[in-house]
Amino acid sequence: MCSLAASAARTSMFGRSFFLFRKPSTRTLTTRATSYTLNTGAKIPALGFGTFQDPDSQEETVSQALQKGMRLIDTARVYNVEEQVGRGIKKSGVPREHIFVSTKLWCNDYHPDDVERALDDSLRDLDTPYVDLLLMHYPCTFKRGPDRFPRNAEGRIIPGETTYVDTWKAMEKLTNTGKAKAIGVSNFSQGEIETLLRESSTVPAVHQMETHPYLQQKKFNKWLLEKQIHVVQFSPLGNMNDFYRQTGWSKKIAHMMRVIDQPILKEIGQKYGKSPVQVVLAWGINSGRSVIPKSVVDWQIEENLEADFKLQPEDMACIATLDAKARFNDPSLDYEWRLYSDLEGIDGTMRGETH
Ligand SMILES: NC(=O)c1ccc[n+]([C@@H]2O[C@H](COP(=O)([O-])OP(=O)(O)OC[C@H]3O[C@@H](n4cnc5c(N)ncnc54)[C@H](OP(=O)(O)O)[C@@H]3O)[C@@H](O)[C@H]2O)c1
Repeated sequence: MCSLAASAARTSMFGRSFFLFRKPSTRTLTTRATSYTLNTGAKIPALGFGTFQDPDSQEETVSQALQKGMRLIDTARVYNVEEQVGRGIKKSGVPREHIFVSTKLWCNDYHPDDVERALDDSLRDLDTPYVDLLLMHYPCTFKRGPDRFPRNAEGRIIPGETTYVDTWKAMEKLTNTGKAKAIGVSNFSQGEIETLLRESSTVPAVHQMETHPYLQQKKFNKWLLEKQIHVVQFSPLGNMNDFYRQTGWSKKIAHMMRVIDQPILKEIGQKYGKSPVQVVLAWGINSGRSVIPKSVVDWQIEENLEADFKLQPEDMACIATLDAKARFNDPSLDYEWRLYSDLEGIDGTMRGETH
């Protein structure tokens, strides 16, 4: 049953949540440093740090996050923050080899002849000789050239002339150069990954995809696990990011109750002396996945760092009931590509909304 006896009282001060324990918890309160082994043999931390948005803050927050203990930094060419991320890494003083850095190739650089140059641009801006992981950001290709979002006179995206399989084969070659230690994909459907498995000799090391208690994708996650493709959850806090309330991709459903406001998460958190945010992140980690929450606020970064703890099976079962199959990140119409075609959370997609 998903109703739990509260063992802690919660109060709020200056916007920060504190837990005041009336009696010692019967559970051991720990923060772990879980990592997973990718199909390449390399390790990837369970807890990481997203860098989408707030470019002016990224240098300092990346540096702070690393100093506080984060060891996985996720970025992307299209976020326009790679220089700031690179400076943040240097500023942190944490040796490069202790950090797992992932970036993503953007859709206008998918032509096979552009892929290595695009990675070189990322490496230059990140000021590093290699990335630990290079992801294909979406399966859709855009017209090659300097314009990240090439559009025709009607404002519609102009597709590229090559396919994501061509791009993948070019990415495969990069693993031999040492500039990308591993390659993976993001925002792919199962069918699109099956195509890669069929038409290439490299199993993606990672699939980075939207996953949170409102979009659990249990069947797909099970399939990815069987294929030894590690899942990194983006937007792990669900509709926390205001971006989803502002973009036409997900306008209506993004206004549903925020994941972290679900009372059951607060109840579960009270058992462990943890906040709903920490419970949501721990749910991802206890499911065998990595999570990459983004934050530019010091105390939030610290809170997120304390989110690697064991959740009891009954609490995992409670969180499983929150699966609303609500997908917030769906730019299918804008990108002129039916994304996630065989996955959950795409019903009723029409211009300007996803449900
Ligand atoms: N592959 C893809 O297509 C894709 C798509 C989306 C995102 N991503 C990656 O995933 C990362 C995370 O995704 P996201 O930014 O969409 O969603 P998110 O990390 O789930 O949510 C970010 C929002 O949560 C807030 N937040 C973070 N920690 C918090 C805490 N402890 N308490 C209260 N609020 C907290 C942040 O606030 P502040 O910003 O005010 O600190 C921000 O508004 C991105 O940065 C990016 O690296 C990848």
